[in-house]
Order: sequence, then C-alpha cells, then structure tokens
Amino acid sequence: MSTPHIDAEVGDFAKVVLMPGDPRRAAYIADNYLQDSRLITDVRNATGYTGRYQGNEISVMPSGMGMPSAAIYITELYRSFEVEVIIRIGTAGGFAPQLDLRDMVVASGCITNSRMPELLLGGPEYELVPTVALLNDAMALGAESGLSLQSGTVFTSDIFYEPDEGLNDRMIADGILCVEMETAALYAIAQIENKQALSLVTISDHLTTGARLSSEDRQSTLDEMINFALQVASAQAESTE
Ligand code: HPA
Repeated sequence: MSTPHIDAEVGDFAKVVLMPGDPRRAAYIADNYLQDSRLITDVRNATGYTGRYQGNEISVMPSGMGMPSAAIYITELYRSFEVEVIIRIGTAGGFAPQLDLRDMVVASGCITNSRMPELLLGGPEYELVPTVALLNDAMALGAESGLSLQSGTVFTSDIFYEPDEGLNDRMIADGILCVEMETAALYAIAQIENKQALSLVTISDHLTTGARLSSEDRQSTLDEMINFALQVASAQAESTE
C-alpha cells in the first residue's frame, strides 16, 4: 500500500514512530539505537526505518523541514500505515531567558502563524495539544532520568528567517518557550486522525542571547533526546501492543 511519498507495505511500520526532521538523523538512530533495523522507504531520500528497541518495534521517519513537508508524512503514516503514535524529536530556538542551550522542551501546547491548523480543523477555534497520557508519561520519565526538561507552549513558525524584530519580546511576554517549524502540523493532524502525538525539542540556539550549540554539543544533546524519546516510545509500544 504505497502512498505518494512513502513506498512501503502497511505492516512495515511499527505503531510508534519517532520523527526527526533530518533524514540523516533517522539513519543515525536506526544505525546506532535500533536492533535489526531495516530501510522501509526512501522516496525523495526520506528514509524510514523499522527496528527494535528493548524488544519493542519502533520506526523512525523523517519529516523534512516545515509544516507542509511534515504534514504529508504525518498524514500518510496515520492514515495509510496504521501508525498510532508519532513522537517528534527536533531542535528549536529558545525565546525564554530561563531556557539554556541543550534544555529539552516537551511541547504541552502550541501556537502558530500558519493557517494550516485552521484549514485542517475547519475554523479559527482550535487547541493544539499533545496526547495527555503521552505528555504525562514523558514528564514522569523525565523526572526519573534527571534530565533538564521543561514543558510549555512552543511557537510553530512558517518562517525561519524572521523579519519581525519585535517577535522575540512578545513571545517572552506571552510565556512562549521556543520556536520550531513542525509541531502545529503534528498536533492538528493527530486530532483529525484520532491518533496520538507528542513533540520534544532541544534548544539548539538562543534567540535572545544569540548563543548556539557547537556541532559536538549538538550531537551529544541529540543523543540525550534520542535516548529519552526511545524510552517514551518503548513504553508506548508496550501499551499499544
Ligand atoms: N527558528 C525556527 N526553527 C528552529 C530554530 C529557529 O530559530 N532553531 C531550530 N529550529
């Protein structure tokens, strides 16, 4: 049952999918964290893999950058490949002064400058939130693991090169933690398709201070997030079996 952007059979995907942005990150996770991983699709170099983590079947599928790309993969996974849970693992630019580089944010809510959620959900009144049970599980696991984990509202933007110089201060005043480019699509589509979703991001750069992670720090921070996301995914895989 191939879709326009995923060339795979229904059973090729696990019920639980980790979704980084970058296809090379998907390959990195498959190679370094999953047992018996196999490539299941590579249309447009969007390489998806399935393997096992602590005995549970997990897939990894990249979203590409931005909501239009992410929405295509998210919709096809939920609608055509019997995927139940998608956990985004990404990076974000920090607004909030209390956030440090490397901190992990669990997106307990989301606002956006995109019309996509409105168009998908049929009107301007909507709420973009993760699956509560997933959020709670992630926070509990985070507390046990001693990670520097915060939950709060993220801003999903259609714009990376933001021209609005006042945006930063308004976001800080509104208590928005960070900016990234995919979570709103994930939360809107999960609602429509009646599926489960959670978005995790690490702060790779700080928009107030201008600080950024070195590539070495990026990698080790990424490893922390992958480990954490796999614990969350694995617990979900057990409960969806
Ligand atoms: N803007 C949007 N997305 C991002 C950023 C940013 O500054 N940093 C990491 N992802």
